[in-house]
Amino acid sequence: MTESRLYIEGGRKIQGEISVHGAKNSVLPVLAATLLSGSVCVIHNCPALSDVFSSCRILRSLGCKCRREGSTVEIDAKTISDYEISENLMREMRSSIVFLGAILGRLRRCRLSFPGGCELGPRPIDIHLAGLRKLGAKIYEDHGVLDCSFGGTVLGADITLPLPSVGATENIMLAAVLGSGETVIRNSAREPEIVDLAGFLNACGAEISGQGSSTVTIKGVSSLHGSEYTVMPDRIVAATYMGAAAITGGELMLKGVRPSDMYSTVSVFEQMGANVYPYADRIYISAKKHLSAIKTVRTMPYPGFPTDCQPIVMAVLTKARGTSMIVENIFENRFRAAAELRRMGADIKAEGKVAVIEGVPRLSGAATVATDLRAGAALVIAGLAAEGTTTVTNIHYIDRGYESIETALRSVGAKIRRA
Ligand code: EPZ
Repeated sequence: MTESRLYIEGGRKIQGEISVHGAKNSVLPVLAATLLSGSVCVIHNCPALSDVFSSCRILRSLGCKCRREGSTVEIDAKTISDYEISENLMREMRSSIVFLGAILGRLRRCRLSFPGGCELGPRPIDIHLAGLRKLGAKIYEDHGVLDCSFGGTVLGADITLPLPSVGATENIMLAAVLGSGETVIRNSAREPEIVDLAGFLNACGAEISGQGSSTVTIKGVSSLHGSEYTVMPDRIVAATYMGAAAITGGELMLKGVRPSDMYSTVSVFEQMGANVYPYADRIYISAKKHLSAIKTVRTMPYPGFPTDCQPIVMAVLTKARGTSMIVENIFENRFRAAAELRRMGADIKAEGKVAVIEGVPRLSGAATVATDLRAGAALVIAGLAAEGTTTVTNIHYIDRGYESIETALRSVGAKIRRA
């Protein structure tokens, strides 16, 4: 069966309001963390994304019961029958590596294959493994399979990360929660999704503090209990729809977002000349006039400008007046949207960590290919402002992070359909 694709008729203003769904990068580690509860957990505001369905498949393969009703998922993690995740389940999504810490924390044993590398370049897990080894895990790697085990109880450790890796911070937190010692993670990631994961674990009886700062402390506890938890809104999805309003000179009210998670992203849209008004749980953006270029946009670990928003902002800057420069400091290979945007008439030179974008007066619709999740979203955003029809194939990438992107955009005036 040939993969479906998106067809976008450009040239229409985006106007109206969109409710932003729960955060993919929070719900994935939270679903893994339910394993540690040894009980029943109810997670609200779960987005309907392929990565969420993959996580539920992994939980079921481990012996959990997993039931989804709308945006609520109920997981019964009382009986775990296995500590191994099959290769094909591991390959379904890159972030399945976060199950390592959760299974290890619950069963003291875990066996899984290295996660599928992904489109952003090799996704090493050396920092994850070094941290888990400091916690006392024995980890054997052969033929792409990781075999991990804890000898006795986790006695805690003082771990300094060489870089604030989001996944490594999560894996160490998950492995350290059940134990008898105190674990300190220094130079830890500070992303809001880390704070959300700690919030869920503390709701289950964990004793985690410092989340959101560069030093997270986990006091080991003997057991956790189930809990009911609502996942935070997705700040990257919110930024993507802000990009849709910005590039079409439209206006949008984004509901159910947390502006306090988005200061550096809001600042980039303001530097382009958009008007952004943050409220308690929503953000209003309007971009009536022509956008202006930004001298330098640098991606940084949180609270800096997020790498996940970089392809989206690149797409918007293709039509901004003047020359913009983007420096991608987090991933080696994250300018893959550039080649596809050039097919639409964008003027982008990308080399190594730097991309230079000359604003052009118009983009023209073209047949394009999504190469990864956020690059795919960037092509949709550009298609909204291109003259004529843009098609985007490989949209399974987009479905990993956006709940029916075409329904959301159609509800605010876009002419877009999936076929
Ligand atoms: C998380 O990936 C997110 N994924 C990514 O979102 C996001 O781009 C990234 O954090 C940065 O914010 C999920 O949360 C599921 P890292 P993660 O470990 O944990 C290097 C999206 O579009 N590194 O913070 O993999 C790594 O290669 C996705 O939603 C090592 O060298 O990111 C990268 O260059 C894409 N060794 C940098 O650190 C390691 O052991 C940051 O990676 C781990 C990471």
